Amino acid sequence: MTNAVFEPASLAGIKLKNRIIRSATHEGMADEKGFPTEKLKKLYVNLAKGETGAIITGYAGIQPDGKTCLFNMIMIDSDDKIPAYKEITDAVHEYGTPIVMQIAHCGRQTRSKITGLPTVAPSAMRHKFYSEDKPKELSEQAIFEIIDNFVAATVRAKQAGFDGVQLHLAHGYLLAEFLSSHSNRRKDRWGGSTENKYRIIGEIFRRAKEKVGDYPILVKMNAYDGRRKGMQVEEAVRVAKMLEKSGCAAIEVSCGCFEDNLYSVRGKKLPAEAVMKYNFKYKKIPEFIKPIAIPLAKTFMIQPKPLLKYNLDAAVQIKKAVNIPVIVVGGINNIDDINDIIENRKIDFVSMCRPFIIEPDIVSKFKNGTQTKSKCIMCNYCIIIIEELPLKCHCGKLPKTKSAEG
Ligand SMILES: Cc1cc2nc3c(=O)[nH]c(=O)nc-3n(C[C@H](O)[C@H](O)[C@H](O)COP(=O)(O)O)c2cc1C
Repeated sequence: MTNAVFEPASLAGIKLKNRIIRSATHEGMADEKGFPTEKLKKLYVNLAKGETGAIITGYAGIQPDGKTCLFNMIMIDSDDKIPAYKEITDAVHEYGTPIVMQIAHCGRQTRSKITGLPTVAPSAMRHKFYSEDKPKELSEQAIFEIIDNFVAATVRAKQAGFDGVQLHLAHGYLLAEFLSSHSNRRKDRWGGSTENKYRIIGEIFRRAKEKVGDYPILVKMNAYDGRRKGMQVEEAVRVAKMLEKSGCAAIEVSCGCFEDNLYSVRGKKLPAEAVMKYNFKYKKIPEFIKPIAIPLAKTFMIQPKPLLKYNLDAAVQIKKAVNIPVIVVGGINNIDDINDIIENRKIDFVSMCRPFIIEPDIVSKFKNGTQTKSKCIMCNYCIIIIEELPLKCHCGKLPKTKSAEG
C-alpha cells in the first residue's frame, strides 16, 4: 500500500521527500550580532539527516527593534550575514532537504531592555504580559520601513540559498498584531476593515514579488488568537483568500498570542518551576514565596484545551477556501494522526516543533516503523528556558547549570 505521507511532494516548486515539516523553532543559537553559529548548522544538518520533509528555521529578525527578547535570535538584517547562512543552506541541501527561513518582527512582544530600542506596535497598547514597555504607535513612514525590511530580508534569504521565506503572521508578533482587531485599533488605512489590517502584508508581498519573482513566500498565520476582539476563524478564512491573491505559496495554520501564556504551544500543565526560575517577570518573586506560588500557579492557571491537533479544524476550513497548500501545526505527535490528517482530512502537510527538539530523527523513525509516537512529554520547559539558554529538550527537569553552554 502506498503511503501519501512518505511520497515525495512539492510545495510551490520546492521538492520535499515527505509531508512532515519541522515548524519554525527559535533555537537561540546565534551570536550577539545575530550571525548563525556552527551549533545551529549542526542542528539543521541533524534534522536533514533524520529525513525531515522540510526545515523552517527559527524566526529571524528583519530589523533591530523587532528582535525577540528570547536568547540570541538569528537576524537577517544585513548583507554581511548572507555568506554564513549560505554555508547552512549548502550543508542542508547535501541531504536533499529544503530549508525555508522564517522572517519576523516581534512588535510589542519583546523588551526594550534587550533590544536597546523602544518597542513598536500598530497601536500604543500595553501588552498584558510584556507590560514593562508601552509600545510606540508606528507612523506611516515607520510602517513603510518595516515593509522594506521584510522585502530586503526576503532578497537576502534568496541570495543565501534558502528555498523560500515564511512570513510570521502568528502568535501575536507584529504582523499578527496588525491582523488582529484586539491589538490594531488604528483608524487610518492600516486598521479597521480586514482589507486595511491586511494592507501591510499585501504590500510586503507586492514589493517582494517585484524583487524576487516566483520565489516562494509562505506564511504562518493565526486562525484564532483567543482574544475577545481578536482573530476568529471566519476572518482568518478571508485573510487566507487575500494571501492566495497576493501570491502566497503556502499557509501554515496556528493560533494564539503570548497574552494568553501558552495558547499556541500547549502543555499538560503550567511549567511553573521553569517559569519561576527563567521568566523575566516571575523570577523576581522572592525565593521564600516560590514554594507556595508554584503549586498555586499549577492549580489555578488552567492550560488551554484541547492538547492535541488544536489547529486542525481551522486548517480544514482554510483548506476548503483556498487552492494553495495548507500546513497544520500544533499538538501533532503520532504517525496515525499524521496519516489521518493527510489522507482523510486532506491537509497538504503537517508540521511539528517539540517532537523535533527531543528527536531530530523522528521522521525516519516514523518512516521505518521503529516508533509511532513522539517521546515529547509536552512539559514546555523548552519554551520557557529558551529565554536564557539555547534550545534543548529538558524533559521536565530544570538544567543543573544556568550557563549558555549548559
Ligand atoms: C522552543 C520553541 C520555540 C518556538 N519558536 C517559534 C518560532 O521561532 N516561530 C514560530 O512560528 N513558532 C515557534 N514556536 C511554536 C511552534 O512552531 C509550534 O507552532 C508550536 O510549538 C506547536 O507545535 P508543536 O505542538 O508541534 O510543538 C516555538 C515553540 C517552541 C516550543
